[in-house]
Amino acid sequence: METTLRPEQIEQLIQAAIKAGRCAYAPYSRFNVGAALLAANHSIYAGCNIENASFGLTICAERAAVANAIADGCRDFLALAVVAQSEGGSLTPCGACRQVLAEFNPHLTVICSNGIGQTRILRLDDLLPYRFEFSPQR
Ligand code: THU
Repeated sequence: METTLRPEQIEQLIQAAIKAGRCAYAPYSRFNVGAALLAANHSIYAGCNIENASFGLTICAERAAVANAIADGCRDFLALAVVAQSEGGSLTPCGACRQVLAEFNPHLTVICSNGIGQTRILRLDDLLPYRFEFSPQR
């Protein structure tokens, strides 16, 4: 189901993502990313990217936000904001994060902001058509 957010909800989610992005641990890329998930119960769960000397172990901000929510018993998400400071426009979640987000809501509203005024509001259905679904009878 599609979720329409009020402008103040969008701004609140972007601000939560910006705040989390300030805590990013990104000594290798120096690219801080913050994310914030809006749950159906109106809770907001934030996350930031956490890099590692073994680069492949890096956790993206979006998946960190999902982990925070799940650990709090929340699995019902309406929207996600992802923010990285960039002159070149907003980023969209990487493929792995799209698949993880789609596990919980394939119709998620995805707000992408560059933190300096450029914002795109997208749908996860459009970002990840034909997501992988596990059905043992396949
Ligand atoms: N990153 C995210 O946190 N989310 C994304 O959707 C794309 C990339 C992080 C991972 C890494 O720490 C840095 O951005 C550069 O790739």
